[in-house]
Amino acid sequence: MKKALVLGASGATGQLLVAMLLKKGVDVVAIVRNENSLNKIDSSHPGLQIVEVNISEMTESDLAQHVKECEVVLSCLGHNLTFKGMFGHPRRLVTDAIKKVANTIASMNIDKKIKIILMNTSGNSNRDIPEKPPYSQRFVISLLRLLLPPHVDNEKAADFLRIEIGQTNNKIEWTAVRPDGLINEDQVSQYDIYSSPVRNVIFDAGKTSRINVADFMSDLVVRPELWRKWKGRMPVIYNHA
Ligand SMILES: NC(=O)c1ccc[n+]([C@@H]2O[C@H](COP(=O)([O-])OP(=O)(O)OC[C@H]3O[C@@H](n4cnc5c(N)ncnc54)[C@H](OP(=O)(O)O)[C@@H]3O)[C@@H](O)[C@H]2O)c1
Repeated sequence: MKKALVLGASGATGQLLVAMLLKKGVDVVAIVRNENSLNKIDSSHPGLQIVEVNISEMTESDLAQHVKECEVVLSCLGHNLTFKGMFGHPRRLVTDAIKKVANTIASMNIDKKIKIILMNTSGNSNRDIPEKPPYSQRFVISLLRLLLPPHVDNEKAADFLRIEIGQTNNKIEWTAVRPDGLINEDQVSQYDIYSSPVRNVIFDAGKTSRINVADFMSDLVVRPELWRKWKGRMPVIYNHA
């Protein structure tokens, strides 16, 4: 039985991801600040373990106790869309959490590779390729970088995986999934995956339903051929137009 640790499990995408992993036969350790926020999940599911702790305050040794049982760590963390969430602390919620997970894995005596699957954003470029977004998009994104700390956090989290973990780490493999404009839908629908954005993220944004993100992220856990295709890359996901 596979086991996954999910950060940001209480979020709009995180809850869908937890439900989808359980449905696909993967046991889940859900890290949440408040157990009651898991209101869309059957919290009595036998495959689900809920750990009530703020990831920012969790020690690496506590985290290691959970990570060592898992093959994969998934993050759907994101700043709450409130003034405090966007401009207050922690400014580097996502980056710091990913670094903590990576440091924890690095300190563990393991002979397997652990996967990290990060929910990122199409507004972030994969500078490994490199990508060349349209000038209008680059101009607005550089303003967002100055004005919106959460955007910088998303960029830095993926940069950490790309640059610090890279492609040849002996304990960690990763992928950063980049949805376009998130919407809510009840059912999984057809979606397309690209290695880079195919639309202008600012002036021609596409739609990506959270449930499709959850489906793709959970498929990366259960479908080895899909993982082999996308590991070390930053797939972009759009609902099929
Ligand atoms: N909006 C878009 O169109 C769009 C597009 C592409 C990518 N994204 C990215 O997608 C990601 C997830 O989106 P979403 O809508 O599913 O997010 P969401 O519903 O806002 O969920 C955010 C998660 O992060 C947790 N969190 C927030 N602040 C925290 C803190 N200070 N300490 C610990 N945990 C904290 C929340 O926990 P609580 O429940 O305890 O608050 C929740 O589990 C974000 O990184 C976002 O940038 C968004």
